[in-house]
Formats: sequence, C-alpha cells, structure tokens
Amino acid sequence: MQPILEIRGLQKTYANGFTALKGVDLTIRKGEIFALLGPNGAGKTTLIGAVCGLVRPTGGSIAAFGEDMSRHWRRLRARVGLVPQELATDMFEPVLRSVTHSRGLFGLPPAPALIEEILRALSLWDKRNEQIRTLSGGMKRRVLIAKALAHEPELLFLDEPTAGVDVELRRDMWKQIAALRERGTTVILTTHYIEEAEEMADRVGIIRKGEILMVDDKAAMMDRLGRTEALITLAQPLADLPEAIAAYPLSLSEDGRVLCYRGGGGEGGGAGTSEVAEVTKELTRAGIDYTAIDIHESSLEDIFVNLLEGPEAPAAGDRGEAL
Ligand SMILES: Nc1ncnc2c1ncn2[C@@H]1O[C@H](COP(=O)(O)OP(=O)(O)OP(=O)(O)O)[C@@H](O)[C@H]1O
Ligand SMILES: [Mg+2]
Repeated sequence: MQPILEIRGLQKTYANGFTALKGVDLTIRKGEIFALLGPNGAGKTTLIGAVCGLVRPTGGSIAAFGEDMSRHWRRLRARVGLVPQELATDMFEPVLRSVTHSRGLFGLPPAPALIEEILRALSLWDKRNEQIRTLSGGMKRRVLIAKALAHEPELLFLDEPTAGVDVELRRDMWKQIAALRERGTTVILTTHYIEEAEEMADRVGIIRKGEILMVDDKAAMMDRLGRTEALITLAQPLADLPEAIAAYPLSLSEDGRVLCYRGGGGEGGGAGTSEVAEVTKELTRAGIDYTAIDIHESSLEDIFVNLLEGPEAPAAGDRGEAL
C-alpha cells in the first residue's frame, strides 16, 4: 500500500546555524499509530513543523498522500491536522467559536453537528461558551485537539498530546486516539511517556540529535531488543556454576545463593523466558533446589534508554526503516 507520508533526506538547519534534522528518512503507513520517541531537543517538533508548514526545511522532500507537499501545499496541508506542543491559541475566544474557526481556516463549509460531536467526545461541550484562557491546562489541551479535528484530517500529528495531563485525562485521550484510528485516521504522536507508546503505537521510531536511530513495529522491537532478567534464589548456596547450565547466560552471586540470568536480547531474541524455564529444568535434573524466581522483562522504556546510551553512530542495519 502506498505510504500516507514519505519523508526523504529531510534536513533543517536553523538561522543560527544549528542543524536540528540531519537527513531524516521516515515512511508512515496509512491507518497506523506511529510514536516518535526521543529526548528533549532531538528534533521531533522540528520534524512535525516541517510537515505542517511551520518550519521551512533546508533539504530533502516530503510527500503526503502520494504527492509532493511543496508543490501541492494548500490542498495537501488541508488533509493534515496538528495538535501543537505549545499552547499558543486565541486565549480570549470562546471554545466553540475557536474550534469552528479552525475548520473555516481550511476553507471547509461549516459543520455544526460535527463540531458538537467533537466537543462532546472531548467533554468540552459544557465549556463551549467559556473563553479558552479560563480553562485548566488539561482542558486547554483538549481544545487544541478539538481544533485539530475540526477539519477532519486524514493524517493527524499530536506533539506531546498528554504532557501535563493527569492520568485519568491521559487514559481518556488514549481512547479518543484509538477511536480516531478506528475511523481510519493515521496518527503520529510524540511523547515522553513511553508507556503511552507502549499502549498505543503500532510502530515506534526513535530519534536522537536529528537522526532516526531506529524504526520498527513496537512488538518486534520489544522482541528483538528486549532482555529478560531472572533471579533464581537457591535453597542451598553453590560454590560454582554447575556444568549442566554452564552454556546459559548465568552468573552466580558472591555468596552462591542467587543465580542471575540475563539474556533473550539481540539476534533471535525474545527467548528469555523459555530459556529461564530450561534453566530451572536443568537445576531440578541436577538436584538443585530453588525457592524463588524473580523475572523481569524489559519494557520499551528500557530499550529506549539503552538505545540512547548506545554509541553515537548506530549500526548500519538498524538505521531508518526496518519495514
Ligand atoms: N527556531 C529555532 N532556532 C534555532 N534552534 C532551534 C529552533 N527551534 C528549535 N531549535 C533547536 O532544534 C533542536 C530540536 O528542537 P525540537 O523542538 O525539534 O526538539 P524536540 O525533539 O521537539 O524536543 P522536546 O522533547 O523538548 O519537545 C533543539 O536543539 C532546539 O534548541
Ligand atoms: Mg518538541
């Protein structure tokens, strides 16, 4: 299927000479939820800004819906929605008028029923006549989402949609985003809550210092790069690792009471848990009793942190699309 967004060699050097994007390649599939993860200053907002016309790229190309964005700007931009990271909006406007206006900006005919539906879904209908500045931070963020949805975008960017939002509201927003996906909207979100990516995303991209380090299906990434740690507490201390389990990635604590397993990552990874099970079978066979097993599977967060702490230049095979 044709990608909904195709970014090739995207570069951005700001006026002060700082290069925020160093040749980014990224392909977004129609209908997916894509999470872009990266530390502060990695270039996430710059990347989104380049697609949405807030940042003028200094190199590369962006094609949306199969057409070059720079050539068919107005028409293509009207099909893209943006929930910006910063709360910069007409604070003195009442909610309803502001959201209605957002639709008009794209030259679409009024659709009061649709606007009402959006405001109701975001629990903003009761606040429709309030000035935006009088709303709480989380409610303001909802207004930004309503504004971005008002023109029914097919491709929606959410730049940290749940920053500064309480847990309940965040879960609510996840539901909204899932509902959008059901309707066929493609969603690209940035977040610092990796739990959010773990919960929502089909694919995850990791960006650091203006470069994409890795893009992969979330599940595949967790399988391939995830690791399993298991602590097996022994009934009796051992002096050495028994021969039968010498081939496994195990170490013995100094006091000989705990076997520590670390494995399952890397090539053919994801096998950690079953390997731990094999180890316990070998222990039983060798007549070694254990009293507890404590298993920890690494999360997307562990993977993310490991990648960011890795070497500056990622391995060639890990770059760009692992589609
Ligand atoms: N107008 C600008 N002029 C110069 N440098 C800029 C400008 N805007 C952003 N930058 C720099 O570009 C880099 C990327 O910024 P960007 O806002 O894209 O990061 P981000 O990944 O969105 O970070 P955050 O997680 O903090 O939102 C940063 O080092 C930032 O200081
Ligand atoms: Mg940002």
